[in-house]
Amino acid sequence: MFRCTVSLWDSDEPVPRAELLKGVEGAHGLLCLLSDRIDAEVLDAAGPNLKVISTMSVGFDHLAIDEIKKREIRVGYTPDVLTDATAELTVALLLATARRLPEGIQEVKSGGWSSWKPLWLCGYGLSGSTVGVIGLGRIGLAVARRLKPFGVKRLLYSGRQPKPQAQEVDGEYVPLDSLLCESDFVVVSCALSPETQGLCDKAFFTKMKTTAVFINTSRGAVVNQEDLYEALTAGQIAAAGLDVTTPEPLPTDHPLLALKNCVVLPHIGSATYSTRGIMAKLTANNLLAGLTGEAMPSELKL
Ligand code: NDP
Ligand code: DGY
Repeated sequence: MFRCTVSLWDSDEPVPRAELLKGVEGAHGLLCLLSDRIDAEVLDAAGPNLKVISTMSVGFDHLAIDEIKKREIRVGYTPDVLTDATAELTVALLLATARRLPEGIQEVKSGGWSSWKPLWLCGYGLSGSTVGVIGLGRIGLAVARRLKPFGVKRLLYSGRQPKPQAQEVDGEYVPLDSLLCESDFVVVSCALSPETQGLCDKAFFTKMKTTAVFINTSRGAVVNQEDLYEALTAGQIAAAGLDVTTPEPLPTDHPLLALKNCVVLPHIGSATYSTRGIMAKLTANNLLAGLTGEAMPSELKL
């Protein structure tokens, strides 16, 4: 029977850096969250015993992959099991943003609802629209699948190469510039990488329609938030819905939070009870497989 000693940070709050550096000393395996930055300092603190890192996330931009690779450490992560939950949340955020749900709820509570008025709280609908998905991966495709039945006319996507699976949603592979010019809704679902960091900047928003809605459920750093603020206040785009920001949490006095046309959620894409349970189990199983030298249920190819 395989036995291991567990050093546990027993809290839902992120482990303080100093505790992480101390706790990881001599460990053979490390289970972490996306809020833990696993860089050379942590790997050095762990020392040569460390053979496996298992993150409870599909995103791995918090891991210093080059350093990990150099040390021949294996990495486990949680693809697929959170795809449906994240796609659902993306659709919910898109609808909430486009149809101005937070504003409407606020008006009901504050007494701003005086009567039915022809143009009051009008927004944008999906029926007959063009949707552009940046990064048609697992989540991007699951979002597209869910949006099509709303009557979306064209589904455009951009990325590094065309995807055969796009056929399922009649997806058209187009250059990013065409996607931005033609889409009524732009959904970002690519991974954060040096290539995608700051991708959504002034030039990006300038190419979008003034009536378009921007949605990001990937990582905050894909967006230049100053440029997004400018675009939203100057009427360059109609609205934005963000599940991810820089930093997280976004300070409560951040200018984006003062805008009615910006809906910000606290990184809850995968937050259903069942998904988080499955993610936790997969993360533990990846770790155990890494420790015993077996095949992991979900190993990141480095
Ligand atoms: P996938 O790897 O399946 O999809 C990522 C997609 O991004 C791939 O299709 C990839 O294309 C594409 N991509 C990479 N580089 C670029 C680029 N330069 N321009 C456009 N597209 C690019 O991952 P998932 O769909 O499972 O997850 C995507 C991301 O969503 C995660 O990395 C994570 O950051 C985020 N996420 C957020 C959640 C939340 O709670 N808000 C929950 C879960 C995930 P290619 O295949 O060609 O590399
Ligand atoms: C991930 O898995 O990368 C998400 O951001 C949280 O589920």
